[in-house]
Amino acid sequence: KYKKGYFMPPVTSMNWASKDSIDESPIWCSVDLRDGNQSLIIPMDLEKKIEFFTFLVSLGFKEIEVGFPAASETEFNLLRRLIEEDLIPDDVTIQVLTQSREHIIKRTFEALKGAKNAVVHLYNSTSVAQREQVFKKSKSEIIALGVTGAKLLNEYANNTEGNFRFEYSPESFTGTEMEFALEICNEVLEVWKPTSEKKVIINLPSTVQVSMPHVYASQIEYISSNLKFRDNVIISIHPHNDRGTAVAEAELGLLAGAQRVEGTLFGNGERTGNVDIITLALNMFSQGINPNLNLENIPHIVSFYEKMTCMEVSQRHPYSGELVFAAFSGSHQDAIAKGMEYHDNNNLNDWRVPYLPLDPKDIGREYASDVIRINSQSGKGGIGFLLKENYGYDLPPKMREDLGYTIKNISDKLNKELKSDEIYELFKKDYINNE
Ligand code: KIV
Ligand code: ZN
Repeated sequence: KYKKGYFMPPVTSMNWASKDSIDESPIWCSVDLRDGNQSLIIPMDLEKKIEFFTFLVSLGFKEIEVGFPAASETEFNLLRRLIEEDLIPDDVTIQVLTQSREHIIKRTFEALKGAKNAVVHLYNSTSVAQREQVFKKSKSEIIALGVTGAKLLNEYANNTEGNFRFEYSPESFTGTEMEFALEICNEVLEVWKPTSEKKVIINLPSTVQVSMPHVYASQIEYISSNLKFRDNVIISIHPHNDRGTAVAEAELGLLAGAQRVEGTLFGNGERTGNVDIITLALNMFSQGINPNLNLENIPHIVSFYEKMTCMEVSQRHPYSGELVFAAFSGSHQDAIAKGMEYHDNNNLNDWRVPYLPLDPKDIGREYASDVIRINSQSGKGGIGFLLKENYGYDLPPKMREDLGYTIKNISDKLNKELKSDEIYELFKKDYINNE
């Protein structure tokens, strides 16, 4: 029997874009060490977390959620090591998660003592489902929980050495009535009274993705345009990927007024993951927007990520997967080879080679190994390209055609891909050794 899906309160306003295009990169906040880590089969240990943190800094992240220090010894110790060993550059802000309970907030500030710049991220769950089934609390009790937490943050921040800013998330936002989500965010803001010197982050998570991306964007637009203290608030989005549309949600969320994105490398995170910051950033890059992250060596980022998380980046993962620039088919190879030649001959500054959304070299990928791949579907153009690029042989058209057929037939018979060195050996055997 067909069962109606996840409950989502109706969205009253459907204005989902306040602008037509994304013209600058948002503030990125990596949640790899928190949302990403909490969903790993084997969470990272302290040393790995420190290494991961340093790596995120090297990629250019300026805001990094490092954990939930009251939740485990390792996360508490991570904070202490980062602060005491002075591992946090001055222009990087660490962020920590806390619930609205005094002993948790107390422990969180103990972990943060002496932090140069930190965001304390308070959350409580606001959705109909969580209110009814998990917390068994009325709307006003849920507001009281958020407000109590907000007051405690003021109190502990005033009594702890360090520079603190605040973030509030109505967790399970996408399952919350928008009027209620707005009300609780405004109540929390009334406690924190953000100023232009101390802005507050209001983070609107699609804790579980339950709608098409434009609906999420409408929710962001509604909150963004009705929030109190709006000029002193940074609207942050935190898309998960249950429907496989986290990147689309983030992009539409940015069009709707969001200024900041929380996500992870390659979309690691709870269930289907958090939004993939690499894909989002490279989508921007391919549209000529500086993503303000160092993504010029994607293969290195992939191998680091795989080593640390024991997860794999899929072969079809946008921009980063092994096969995402690969052209096996003859017609694609031919078009790419012609496009590259056109670029070289015309000294183009922008990128318009057919079938390649950006120049693979810009992100550390190689034409000869990542783009032109040879099997029985391939053609003379690709084979000629490899021999020229890797071995300096610019074959005359007839020879290229002959060799093309030979290689295709061999690959067909063996039913396998032929690597560049194998092609060169076959070429040598038939054309050079016989000369
Ligand atoms: O997905 C979520 O709602 C979260 C919150 C704690 C922000 O991770
Ligand atoms: Zn999350």
